Order: sequence, then C-alpha cells, then structure tokens
Amino acid sequence: MITVNEHYAKLQSSYLFSTIAKKVQDYSTKNPDAQIIKLGIGDVTRALPQACITAFHAAIDEMAADQSFKGYGPEQGYGFLREAIARHDFTDRGVSIDPTDVFISDGAKCDTGNIQELFSAGIRVAVPDPVYPVYVDTNVMAGRTGFFTDGRYEHLVYLDSTEENNFLPGLPHSPVDLIYLCFPNNPTGQTATKEELKKWVDYAHEHKALILFDAAYEAFIRNDNLPHSIFEIPGAKEVAIEFRSFSKTAGFTGTRCAYTIVPEECRAFNKDGEVVHLKPLWNRRHTTKFNGVSYPVQRAAEAVFSSDGQKQVKELIDFYLENARIIRERMSVLGFSCTGGDNSPYIWIKTGQDSWSFFDLLLAEAHVVCTPGSGFGSCGEGFIRISAFNSRENVNAAMDRISGVL
Ligand code: MLT
Repeated sequence: MITVNEHYAKLQSSYLFSTIAKKVQDYSTKNPDAQIIKLGIGDVTRALPQACITAFHAAIDEMAADQSFKGYGPEQGYGFLREAIARHDFTDRGVSIDPTDVFISDGAKCDTGNIQELFSAGIRVAVPDPVYPVYVDTNVMAGRTGFFTDGRYEHLVYLDSTEENNFLPGLPHSPVDLIYLCFPNNPTGQTATKEELKKWVDYAHEHKALILFDAAYEAFIRNDNLPHSIFEIPGAKEVAIEFRSFSKTAGFTGTRCAYTIVPEECRAFNKDGEVVHLKPLWNRRHTTKFNGVSYPVQRAAEAVFSSDGQKQVKELIDFYLENARIIRERMSVLGFSCTGGDNSPYIWIKTGQDSWSFFDLLLAEAHVVCTPGSGFGSCGEGFIRISAFNSRENVNAAMDRISGVL
C-alpha cells in the first residue's frame, strides 16, 4: 500500500501567497470592474536590465549554432558566473569566498527549502516570528515539528520579532541547532548591523549550531554601515550558509537564477560529534537532484556584474526604493507606524486591527492587495506588509485610494 507523508497533513491550509492569490481571484470574479493593484507578493514588475537582455540574446544565438551549442552544463553552475559572484559580491567587499563555494540554482526559495535535507530529523529548529513561510512549511513537511496548536507548530522554537525588540529577535531561551535569519528582513523590512549578526555567529559557535542566512534583499541596502553578507562577520564561514538571488536584485523572478554559498569551512557534526563539512554534502545533493540553470539565464545573470549591468541594476533598485519611500511616507501621514522600506522593498505596517480584516478592507474598499502579517506568524497579527514592487503610477494610485478609505 502506498502511504503518504503524514507530515503534510499538519500544514495549515495552502501556501500563504497561494491563499492570497485565490482570495484576490475570487474577489475579481465577483467584481469584474475592480481595477486591483497588487502590492502583496514581492514580485517585480519592471523589465530585465538591458545588459542582461543583450547577454541573454547572445547566449540564445550560441544555442542556435552547432559549434557553440551547450547541452548539460555543470550542475553547480558555469565557472564564469560562480567566479563573477565570488569576486563581485564577496572578494571586492573584503570577504574571500572561493568560486567553488558558490552553487547556482533556480531560486532561493527552493534552496532554503532543500537545504534542510542535509540535517538529521531530530534537530531543534529556530525561526523568527514573523517569518518567510517557506522555512517553516518545509520543516513541517520534513517532520521536524509537531502539530499546529494555538497558532504555532510544536517543537519549533519561535524567536519573537516585535515592536518591543525593534523586530530584532533575541537569542533563544533553549538551545537550538539550526537558526533561520533573513536581513534585510522579509516581512518586516528590518535590517541588522554587524554587531547584531555577530551575536548570532557567536551563539552558533558556542552551541555548535548552524545559521541559514537569507540575503535575498541585500541589494536594497543603501546604508554603508550595514553588512550585505553574514560572511562579513569573522568566524561566520564555519557556522553559516548564505542564500542570494537575482530575483529582486535584477528582476529575475520569472527568469529564475539564485545562488547559495556553502563555504569550505562550513560544518555540522555526525552523531559522534565529529565535524562533517557541508559543502561536499550540498554538492552531492545538487549534482544528484538538479541539472543546473540554463546557459542563457546564467549568461544574463553574469551581465548583472558588468559595469552597464551594475548601473542598470542600481537604477532598478533605486526605483523600487523610491516606491517604498512613498508608501512609508503616505502610511505614516495616515498615522500608521511603519518599519522597513528604506533598505528594503517591504514596509511593515501596524494596523490596529487584525491582519486579515485589514487585508479584506483594503481589497474591498481600495482594491489594493497587501499581505496580512499574521500569514507570516502569530507575531505578525495586527500588521500588514506592503511591497514596493509595482509601477510608480500604481503605487501612487494605491496610496491615494488607501488615503481615501482610511
Ligand atoms: C514574498 O513576497 O515574500 C516573496 O516574493 C516570496 C518569494 O520570494 O518567494
């Protein structure tokens, strides 16, 4: 008899962004004239940078001729892209990362979900609350949690990110083995200083733990004092894996290209307490279960690091950051307390009422889609997240409409 993975039955309804998409679809069907503006899921709206498009076209032309055609590429990614990433994102910032520590993939979402396959079932996992739901749901699927009771999964250690701690969670009260961190944060938009990250690196050394650091939004950092990578913290390479993406940096949400850094030094332990390096394990997983990102996409991603690409990507992100500034300013004028939106595309807004009611109100009265904070965890109750990914015209229109109904 074929039996199912019973852990799936513990999951709460559908994936957050699928639930929202369904609600919006139902509303649209009932109200076909409503011009809905979507500031919910963080999905980019502007075209790929010209440098990427040019490289993309050239790579397609290579695929069109037998002499330059490419079949299977290296599963871990082509050397040209791994080298460009290591140099631009790390060496040029004073952090030495070997190109072979860089694993190219089709998404940070997939990688943050897949990586926990390397760890044993019994580890204690800590997640911030609120949190990107993928970290939680994939651990539920893997059987690392109990049932969902009183708004939380049993056996997970939740690290509260609240107004009281300025949305920077404190160290866990009971020891944990795996810690998810994301800065600039999704969903709160909060950033972390080097001192803040050092606290976690020290904790991981002391408790033989590992940090999974999601840096998908690092390109939005404009404050020169903030770290872009956890590897800027001395000692982090032993205790952290970092996830990055071209999705929000260069508009690749539909094109798909991301990368995960597993430094040579990065370690976990076997049941006898002996060190096991994680890079060979991730390499084994990647080469076994993944066939690499397509050649034209990797060439397009490489172009992000050209001098034209860098200028265009900066212009793209500046555009979304200006949207974020407008959203934050307009919501503040309406009397809402806001976090994020300066080094992040997300604005975290205290609503003064429950998150889903506020979501329903904005959808019904303003025809604007946001993301209810409670969808990211129980500490998100009473908040919504507004995303800056849209045209200027739509952002201004959404803010006018919201101002008209609140
Ligand atoms: C979000 O809206 O939180 C992100 O778009 C989700 C993602 O990147 O998968």
